[in-house]
Amino acid sequence: MSPADSGRARAVVLDHLRDHVNRGHSRIASLLGLPLEVRSAGALVYDEQDTPHLDCGGYGVFLLGHRHPDVVDAVVGQLGRHPLSTRALVEPNMAYAAQALTSVAPAGLQYAFFVNSGAEAVELAMKLARANGCRRVIAAEGGFHGKTLGALSVTGNHRYRTGLEPLLPGVEFVPFGDVDTLRAVLGSDTTRACVLLEPVQAEGGVRIPPVGYLREVREVCEEFHALLVMDEIQSGLGRLGSWWGCDEEGVCPDVLTTGKVLSGGVVPVAATLATAEVYEVLNRDPLFHSSTYGGNPLATVAAATTIEVLRRDRLVEQARGLGSQLLPQITGALAAAGPHAIREVRGRGLLIGIEFTSEALAGLFLTHMLRERVLTSYTLNASRVIRLTPPAILESDHICWLLRSLERSAAALVGA
Ligand SMILES: Cc1ncc(COP(=O)(O)O)c(C=O)c1O
Repeated sequence: MSPADSGRARAVVLDHLRDHVNRGHSRIASLLGLPLEVRSAGALVYDEQDTPHLDCGGYGVFLLGHRHPDVVDAVVGQLGRHPLSTRALVEPNMAYAAQALTSVAPAGLQYAFFVNSGAEAVELAMKLARANGCRRVIAAEGGFHGKTLGALSVTGNHRYRTGLEPLLPGVEFVPFGDVDTLRAVLGSDTTRACVLLEPVQAEGGVRIPPVGYLREVREVCEEFHALLVMDEIQSGLGRLGSWWGCDEEGVCPDVLTTGKVLSGGVVPVAATLATAEVYEVLNRDPLFHSSTYGGNPLATVAAATTIEVLRRDRLVEQARGLGSQLLPQITGALAAAGPHAIREVRGRGLLIGIEFTSEALAGLFLTHMLRERVLTSYTLNASRVIRLTPPAILESDHICWLLRSLERSAAALVGA
């Protein structure tokens, strides 16, 4: 496409976006001069002029990179055979994917129910908890679980709840990382509770809890007969350099949610996993929960192939190694910005957060990174934090590109 044609195409898209999707998005895209994204492969996303951008964002989805060839092949094969199921007969991919997913899950999580998005997985987790007698949910301040009404009720950020309250009743928030307050809240009421946590808060600003926290949470849940639900939608399947964040402390939750990486960067899919005891309500009544598109063949073939690739290519170990290499390199590359601009760089595996001293500096930095053609992520519950969630398949020239861009963007903040 010539620059003039691509300019016209972009203007039309921004007009449609403004008039029919979202005025604010269109304005931001226009102000920042954001290009259109047209195609992708591995760590790269190409715009309308076929210029590559290095994807270190994508809200944690692309651990395998974009369009992993094995996942694409499996999905294309399925597309040519049978993309959506009737629900009248037995569609095999869902069963294969459930077996694959539970085989890599923490011990005891025997059942998996596939849905289309992370928020839906959280909805089902809450529904299972309720059906198991939990009339209270204790969630963490700063936690993020999605934006459907139920998921929003347990999300610890009031910005997205404003104007919608009261949401789901019976939800209480405790500080993340503080087991004493959790114990006190659990002990304050004899009603059965479910405790919902992320092992590392991603949208909360890459907040890593103290060592031993998850293990103590598990013990406190046992003590008060509370169900433990781990939201591993962003942290799971290798993002933190382990299969699951809760593996780091040998913790097995009663319910676990997953999504994002499960897509293989190809088809949206998420899932709720549960122990046989918690899942019994669904075994007794298979229609207790259902979804027209949840667990469709395209999504489940993508999920099963993703798990196979993660295993075969040892991508979880690769994420761990790459993460420990990158964290000090990134910290070094940002040094020029100094403590007046950057408060901390922290991370686990390939979930890395840069905390700025102000929201304005975080925004400015993200804009500089865009000019360097490196995509990063804004953080929903912590707007001073910019996240890097690179793929595990990053190559050495990509790493040089990333570090050079971080250096230049950090230098640009001096005196800002
Ligand atoms: C921990 C966590 N839970 C739930 C969600 C919601 O997932 P989705 O956006 O797919 O609904 C997210 C999304 O960022 C997340 O990070």
